[in-house]
Amino acid sequence: MLHLEISDLITVTDPRSGARLPVHRGDVVRRLREAGDRRAARIVAALPADPYDVLDPRAVDRLMIGVHTELQRLSEELRLGERLVHVLGPLFEAVRATATGPLRLVDVGSGLGYAVRWLAAHGRLGPEVELVGVDLDAALVGEAERLARAEGLDCRFVHGNAFDLPEAATVYVSTGVLHHFRGPDLAEFFRAQAASPALAFCHFDIAATRLAPVGAWVFHRTRMRHPLGRHDGVASARRAHTDEALLHAAATPGMRPLLYEPRGLANPFCTTLRPIIGVRPELEAPLRRAMGRAARRLVGPEQLVGAAR
Ligand SMILES: C[S@@+](CC[C@H](N)C(=O)[O-])C[C@H]1O[C@@H](n2cnc3c(N)ncnc32)[C@H](O)[C@@H]1O
Repeated sequence: MLHLEISDLITVTDPRSGARLPVHRGDVVRRLREAGDRRAARIVAALPADPYDVLDPRAVDRLMIGVHTELQRLSEELRLGERLVHVLGPLFEAVRATATGPLRLVDVGSGLGYAVRWLAAHGRLGPEVELVGVDLDAALVGEAERLARAEGLDCRFVHGNAFDLPEAATVYVSTGVLHHFRGPDLAEFFRAQAASPALAFCHFDIAATRLAPVGAWVFHRTRMRHPLGRHDGVASARRAHTDEALLHAAATPGMRPLLYEPRGLANPFCTTLRPIIGVRPELEAPLRRAMGRAARRLVGPEQLVGAAR
């Protein structure tokens, strides 16, 4: 079965203008049926549409905000903030050792901005690191901005496309976004960042282990209420990129690609969430020094040959 995510099909944005495009419910239902996913087709068939069968954009926005709110709870459960700082702390230490001037972290595909808001609330990267979130979904950007203001946080959110990045960064990050990019888009995602003045990227996603779909099913079943969230949570684990695919795609000119396999962050299912890191070559040694013993878990493409998961 071809694994599609409902959220990708019901929110369509013009990549150039960023404008929301109308989506015909019947077209999405047909695509899901053709992909062999009758359950997903039933979920979409139940969504509200106008007399011309165009999905109600306000209902879709509310649904996406609701699902991402549940996703935030999952991120709390998975201790995503600690997981980010575990790598970003040493990464920014390495950056400070080699660069001067203002520092900026940009979270690509920030959704409701949980990662950026957590970093802003906990101040774990230092006050001089500007925190920005970018997302293609205007409704999510608006809600992230509203939450950040209500929480009195020093961070901001921008509507934009990962393939035409509106914000320059010292370090680009993302959480749970890589599996959305298929085919040549995955390498293009990394290439755009490597071609920018950024010193590093650090993108967290589900590892393509045999346990991942089972772990995703358990977590989404217990923590999420809407069937769309439950469906897409498992689909995303099935769509996760292999280590080989990530290291290959991230091996873009001027960046040293490294996978990091974290251990011991409380929940055994959490070991399935890990980042692909890209650093300018001169940053690798300072990063390894800043990570200390944990640097042993950094894996380059040369170490992957023959490794079993
Ligand atoms: C699974 S959600 C993850 C959201 C958030 N990072 C989190 O961990 O809760 C994927 C996000 O990527 C965004 N996205 C997908 N394609 C994008 C693109 N080309 N540019 C920017 N954002 C994109 C979606 O709008 C969605 O918010």
